Amino acid sequence: MATDFRHVPVIDVADLVAGTEGKQAVASQLDKACRQSGFFYVVGHGVDAGLQQRLEQLSRQFFAQPIEEKEQIAMAHGGRAWRGYFRVGDELTSGKPDQKEGLYFGQELPADHPLVQAQTPLHGPNLFPEQPAELRQVVLGYMTALTQLGKQLMAGIALGLGLDEGYFDQHGTRDPLALFRIFNYPPPKAAELWGVGEHTDYGLLTILLQDDTGGLEVKSSTGWVSAPPIAGSFVCNLGDMLDRMTRGVYRSTPHRVRNPAPRDRLSFPFFFDPNFFAPVRPIDLPSGEVAPDDRSSRWDKTSVHVFQGTYGDYLLGKVSKVFPQLKAKVL
Ligand code: OGA
Ligand code: NI
Repeated sequence: MATDFRHVPVIDVADLVAGTEGKQAVASQLDKACRQSGFFYVVGHGVDAGLQQRLEQLSRQFFAQPIEEKEQIAMAHGGRAWRGYFRVGDELTSGKPDQKEGLYFGQELPADHPLVQAQTPLHGPNLFPEQPAELRQVVLGYMTALTQLGKQLMAGIALGLGLDEGYFDQHGTRDPLALFRIFNYPPPKAAELWGVGEHTDYGLLTILLQDDTGGLEVKSSTGWVSAPPIAGSFVCNLGDMLDRMTRGVYRSTPHRVRNPAPRDRLSFPFFFDPNFFAPVRPIDLPSGEVAPDDRSSRWDKTSVHVFQGTYGDYLLGKVSKVFPQLKAKVL
C-alpha cells in the first residue's frame, strides 16, 4: 500500500523529455512520487495536443454508433491478438462486470510476422472500424508518440532509482509490449456499480489520458484520493511489474473509476510494459532497499513478489480473469 498522500503530484517532465540538464531534478521528483503515491500527473511531455483532440473526437464518433456497427470489430474476431470492441459489462474486475465499453489495440503486426505466425498470444493485427476511418491512423500515431514518452519516463524512473537511464531499455523495454485501450464509461445505472472496480495495473507504467469528466480515484493508506482531469496532462501510475522489480520500494497503487456525470466519460489508458518474452526479475537497487511483503493488504490478496517468469506469463494469467469468455481463444 502507498503512504498517506492527499493529492496526486504534478511533474513537469520537459527537461527529461528534452534530455537537458534538469533531467536529474525531474528524476528526483519522479522517485518521490513513486514512493509516496505511485501516481503522478505529467505535463511538459511534448505529445501533440491536436493528436489527442482528434483521438477524442473520433472515439466519440465510434461509440455513438449502433451496437451492431461496433460489433463488426468485436473482440471475438481478434482471436489470440486480443483486439477489438467489447460491450458494457463484458470485462470483469474482481469478478464484477465493469460499467464500460471499449476498444483494445496493440502494436500493429502483419499476419505474416513470425510472432503472429507462431500464434503468440496478444500479438497480431489490430481491428479498426470502418467508421470513422481516420481512427486507424490517429490510434497508430498516438501509440507511436506514447511509446516514445513511455521510454522517456522509464529513463527518468531509472535515474530516480539511482540506475543507469538505459536500465529498463536493457531489461525488457527496448521492444516493449504496448497495449492501448479506449474506454467509454456511460453514466452508471445504479449507485453500487463501478466503471472499473479497485485494481492495480499489470505492467510497468500506465499513461492515461482522460476527458474532462473526472471519476478516477487512487487509494492512499487512509482513503481514496481523487485524480481529477488537468488539461494538458497525463496521469501516470505504476504497475505490478515495477513493484516486483523494485522489491516493493515502488508499489503498484490501487485505483478505481466511477463516472460522476450524466454523460459518457472517455479515457485512453496506454500500458507501457516489458516485452512479452522478457523475464521479470528484481533489480539490485543501489540503495539496497527491500520493502515488506504487502500481500495481506493488496486488493487481490496475492503477492507480486513470488512471481517468477516472463511478463507474458504474468499477463496471460490476468487475461483469463478479466475476459473469461476469451480464455479459450487466447491461451
Ligand atoms: C485501467 C484504468 C482508468 C480510467 O484501464 O487500468 O485504471 O480512467 N483506467 O479509465
Ligand atoms: Ni488501471
